[in-house]
Amino acid sequence: MHMHLPPQSQPKQALALRFAAVRRHSLALAEPLSDEDCGAQSMPDASPVKWHLAHTTWFFETFILERMERDFVPFHPAFRVLFNSYYNGIGEKHPRAQRGLLTRPAMAQVRAYRSNVDARITALLEGELSEAQRSELAMLVTLGLQHEQQHQELMLTDVKHLLAQSELLPAYLDEALPVAGAAPRLEWIAFDGGLTDIGHEGGSFCFDNELPRHRQYVAPFALSSRLVTNGEYLAFMQAGGYFDASLWLAEGWDWVRTQNLNAPIYWHQDGKGQWQEFTLFGAQPLDLERPVTHLSLFEADAYAHWAGARLPTEAEWEYAAAQSGAAAIEAGHLHPAAAQQGAASSLQQLFGHCWQWTSSSYAPYPGFQAAAGALGEYNGKFMLNQYVLRGSSCATPAGHARASYRNFFPAGARWQFTGVRLARQVTAP
Ligand SMILES: [Fe+2]
Repeated sequence: MHMHLPPQSQPKQALALRFAAVRRHSLALAEPLSDEDCGAQSMPDASPVKWHLAHTTWFFETFILERMERDFVPFHPAFRVLFNSYYNGIGEKHPRAQRGLLTRPAMAQVRAYRSNVDARITALLEGELSEAQRSELAMLVTLGLQHEQQHQELMLTDVKHLLAQSELLPAYLDEALPVAGAAPRLEWIAFDGGLTDIGHEGGSFCFDNELPRHRQYVAPFALSSRLVTNGEYLAFMQAGGYFDASLWLAEGWDWVRTQNLNAPIYWHQDGKGQWQEFTLFGAQPLDLERPVTHLSLFEADAYAHWAGARLPTEAEWEYAAAQSGAAAIEAGHLHPAAAQQGAASSLQQLFGHCWQWTSSSYAPYPGFQAAAGALGEYNGKFMLNQYVLRGSSCATPAGHARASYRNFFPAGARWQFTGVRLARQVTAP
């Protein structure tokens, strides 16, 4: 992986503490769930929580312990195949769609696997190493923690999809959803554009797909000051948006009609015809002021078309985020909150609410190079038939978001916290 880790920025104790904190957080996310909740898989795209807990551990065992531990012995020889996600360079994989059939190992064994690997990684971090080994270890542990944080978000979105399968509509969190205020009016924020540098900059961690930083021309454009709300999306639905072929991409129209869709994935009407939204806090009356979320690219694009706008490109999004100094990254609250009043003429909700679909295909930046070996499979091999999402969501762990981050999903994916920020052309005066 391409990473810059100045040695003074990663003292070994700091990394060991961070390792312990991130690993603990994954278990904390499983805390509200029963062992039965943790074992089930609701669709091939979503994995059981138990599998996430084991696979993130497998990552540390396979890419660090196997490489760097003297007299390495696997915790369990079968786990190398069971918890391999997609690394052909590592070897065989248990089929992705059958992760929910793994009633064994039990949760208790997965917890024991985690403790075992945690202790061994901590011993490596605290042990004697050459300068070269220490820097390799720091790089791999940092990557393993970023990987685990990506899975922490997936644990939440996968479990939401799972819980939504039950007529009971069980809440993940047994708490009231915090009250949201009224969203401000949507404004257009204009940007000059021009020649601009896109991609990660500086000495902090990034994934290889954010590099190399490179020059792009961005024509003048405008972005909506906030994300599209449930109320605005409901107006699109009530105007017949799901039944108007002229608004949809061809593949999107096939997608929407084949499945006979007429609303976002977690929306349903109660006996009185009132819209409800399933959330991690259980079923809630649809809050018209909050951002619409769990849209596919097809839905996001059709809405933008209906609203007389378009989706931003990823270069526009990153340029605008950099211009607006969007360093203020909001912490996860497990459901998108309404935009704030009184923050006029600035971009809101860049981070911490919904990932924002762009019209940009997920493709390598000019000069992209994947790492050698199995870790080179991390990002590069997925650069086909997917679209880039920017920002971060209410399920993204704290400290994981940045302006150059490139998330990616196929156009039909709806189970992530994905929303819409609109863009439009600006004609020069
Ligand atoms: Fe993974």
